Amino acid sequence: MKKFLLWTVRITGGLIVLLIGSVVLLQYRTYDAPFPDIHASADSVIIARGKYLVTGPAHCADCHASPDQASLLALGKPVSLNGGKEFKGDIGTLRAPNITSDRETGVGNLSDGQIARALRYGVDHKGKALFPLMPFQNLSDGDLQAIISYLRTMEPVRHEVKPKSLNALGYVVNAFFIKPVGPTGLPPGTVIADSSVTYGAYLAKNVANCVGCHTDRDLKTGAFTSEPFSGGFHMQSPLDPAYECVTPNLTPDGPTGRMTNWTETQFIQRFGMGKSITHSEMPWGPFKNMNESDLKALYRFLHTLKPVTHETGPSLVRKQ
Ligand code: HEC
Ligand code: HEC
Repeated sequence: MKKFLLWTVRITGGLIVLLIGSVVLLQYRTYDAPFPDIHASADSVIIARGKYLVTGPAHCADCHASPDQASLLALGKPVSLNGGKEFKGDIGTLRAPNITSDRETGVGNLSDGQIARALRYGVDHKGKALFPLMPFQNLSDGDLQAIISYLRTMEPVRHEVKPKSLNALGYVVNAFFIKPVGPTGLPPGTVIADSSVTYGAYLAKNVANCVGCHTDRDLKTGAFTSEPFSGGFHMQSPLDPAYECVTPNLTPDGPTGRMTNWTETQFIQRFGMGKSITHSEMPWGPFKNMNESDLKALYRFLHTLKPVTHETGPSLVRKQ
């Protein structure tokens, strides 16, 4: 009996050491995603398109502006993308880096290909998998080029941002669950920005991530657990952990769709208003900068969706 126990302890101990060893080793794993053949341009039309995407629908500014610029951001005003916003969760703290062109603390020393690869394939400049906060894998080549071209014109700001701090669970998740995510097919070369349903779908899915928040999902795997755009995703308030926001159903369902009875004008006016629930993580500030044509495209696309009956309740709830 004693011998048996001793062996059980030895084997369990061995397995634990093996597990910890793999978790540690896997933190150094790198991936070979391709570098997209995308290069910054000095063309002012391309740079203007990039600025519009970064400060508007693609809302890079919402995450990459330092927290002291929050009030400017909420008004949709220009901000520096000098980084430092923290994302605290069960796995530890992630931090949005400085993406101004500062050579030491920003992305001034990264190649266009490295930035493009981070956005399209979720692999950072060191070859490691990024945590999946940036769902831009299916941006068109043209829009990716525009975004990088605009980043290159941003005033370099020296601002050192600490690397992410993972806890024990975070290291395990990073070792076994975080894999780079790539595009779902061949990304489009160029898209025509008009107020069509097709362009609205591109904005809602590939640029503004309406679908990522307005669909319920399993937080461990990231998999959708409700019909796309039918809401119900719970997001903890960044201001007070006792509160959470619930994303409303955006499909045109009679009784449960939030905007089924909104007119196009009401929808455009709602986006002009900005944030009304202070606990909300929806990037209302940058979305204030969306032009009327884009908002029309979004409205038209959302109204072509199949109505899904899904009662999501009030947008702000106190946790039990
Ligand atoms: C929802 C928040 C969020 C949005 C929106 C966002 N980012 Fe990020 N970004 C992050 C976080 C957090 C990281 C660091 C992730 C990590 O440490 O795994 C990051 C990392 C990066 C990196 C670093 C890659 C590297 O090689 O180290 C670049 C470049 C970047 N983002 C550019 C952008 C651009 C351009 C946009 C808009 C098109 C954007 N981000 C939108 C949160 C965001
Ligand atoms: C980062 C997550 C996130 C993203 C991205 C996002 N939303 Fe939301 N949205 C929310 C949350 C949370 C709420 C509920 C709180 C609130 O009203 O601000 C909400 C509320 C709404 C509402 C209801 C507002 C009201 O006054 O009743 C509409 C309409 C909406 N979103 C549309 C969109 C559209 C269209 C997009 C893409 C352009 C989008 N959202 C992108 C999280 C998000």
